[in-house]
Amino acid sequence: MVLTTLPLVPLPAAVVVHEGRMPLTATARVHGSSPAAGILIDALARRGGPALSPADAGDDAPAPGDIVLRTDAEGSASEGYSLRIGDHVDIVGDDEAGLFYGVQTLLQLARQDDDGWSVPRTEITDAPRFPHRGVMLDVARHFFDVSEVKKFIDATSALKFNRLHLHLSDDQGWRVHIDSWPLLTELSSTTAASGDAGGFYTKDDYRDIVAYAASRHMILIPEIDLPGHTHAVGVAYPELVEAPVLNDALVTQAENLGQPLPVAGESYLGWGVGHSSVRIREERTYDFVRDVVRELAEMTPGPYIHIGGDESLGTSQEDFDHFAERATQIVVDAGKTPVAWHEMGAAAGIAEGTVGQYWGMKIPTGAHAAEAAHFVERGGALIMSAADAAYLDMKYTADFPLGLTWAAIIDVRTAYEWEPTAVLEVPDEAILGVEAPLWSETTRTIDDVEQLVFPRAAAEAEIAWSPKHAPERTWESFRGRLGTLAPLWKAEGVRFHPSADIPWSDR
Ligand code: ACM
Repeated sequence: MVLTTLPLVPLPAAVVVHEGRMPLTATARVHGSSPAAGILIDALARRGGPALSPADAGDDAPAPGDIVLRTDAEGSASEGYSLRIGDHVDIVGDDEAGLFYGVQTLLQLARQDDDGWSVPRTEITDAPRFPHRGVMLDVARHFFDVSEVKKFIDATSALKFNRLHLHLSDDQGWRVHIDSWPLLTELSSTTAASGDAGGFYTKDDYRDIVAYAASRHMILIPEIDLPGHTHAVGVAYPELVEAPVLNDALVTQAENLGQPLPVAGESYLGWGVGHSSVRIREERTYDFVRDVVRELAEMTPGPYIHIGGDESLGTSQEDFDHFAERATQIVVDAGKTPVAWHEMGAAAGIAEGTVGQYWGMKIPTGAHAAEAAHFVERGGALIMSAADAAYLDMKYTADFPLGLTWAAIIDVRTAYEWEPTAVLEVPDEAILGVEAPLWSETTRTIDDVEQLVFPRAAAEAEIAWSPKHAPERTWESFRGRLGTLAPLWKAEGVRFHPSADIPWSDR
């Protein structure tokens, strides 16, 4: 028995490699009634691999080369699985999510060489380090339609991400229909950043995304960004929003980029932040928040509603705290757990159990660490999105054509080499996990999005899934394993940045 590196990202918790390989051929049958069987058969076919077929119902005697998929309710770790490859393949999920992840691991192991398709004989026992492994897609600055979001779900769930945070509203647009405030989508969804076309999800579209995400074991976290980032709300309902506050940074940035400044009641096409706020001392604002949260909660089976809280730069601390306390309570009253960007932790009375999302730097500055810690003091927990490591919209290199640089330039190694429990002085148990956000100012197409997301999302996936102290949790091991994902991404039509730091393989 030898322990060697397999072509796997994220690295599994425990791997034993045996001698030899098991051929994968078109005579193989896939046993088991799980939807993961169809996912396996279809994905291998897209790779140009052998056309596997399902075994007859009730046929549970695997022949050599067959693949058996089952769940075992006795399994202790949620989302875990074991995978054994001898003369046939056995994948046992602790639950359906675990089985799905076992199938993703098998798909990464399946390789073609001159002798055909095969998988290495191995024994893997695997389960995630963190329960929260998230990606965020900003569909507000630029809009991505249902089929594009589904493709994003496919590519990220294959890396064992289990949370999809959709940033559904911002200054540039409102992207989900709300029956009780219909002008939000009627008037505030048609444009996007840089004057591009917008769009929005009908409620059926939204439910379709929720269901598709669930079929890939991802929970949808909808975000309505409040009280700032609300210029688009004012385009639809001027009485809800204050006049734009034009701070010096905003004006300078608009000049440098040749972009317009925000004008009350008109669609905003620039990239500036911090100029908008809902009217915090008007009761009507809370009717609005309550209605939006209720309608979102009704069509969101997951436990979370994210209510934003970042960059309310024109709002007094007193007003901001007042809003944070009321808005988080509204989410609780709707039966959901609030999630908020870390600034909302400034509010002493933020609703108990609110989850904070830390987006400061790996070495916190200003009040960010204290704000984040306050969520924990209030019985909540933290999602870590350190902007100088996990922000997927930062450029890989200074001259990369897409992305921004305000937090950092983040090459693949920088995305990989950070530790989410080492940023803040909170107990390790307070860290729910990691989320990698993609803000879409510069990404006009899903192709652009994918080039920023891949391969760096794979680095965040490994940080979120793999044991912190595994011998192969090193940059040298990771870059070698990462290179082996290229043929899988190519087969799925996923654009990725072919970073020169990675030894990409052909098959
Ligand atoms: C953020 O990047 N404004 C959360």
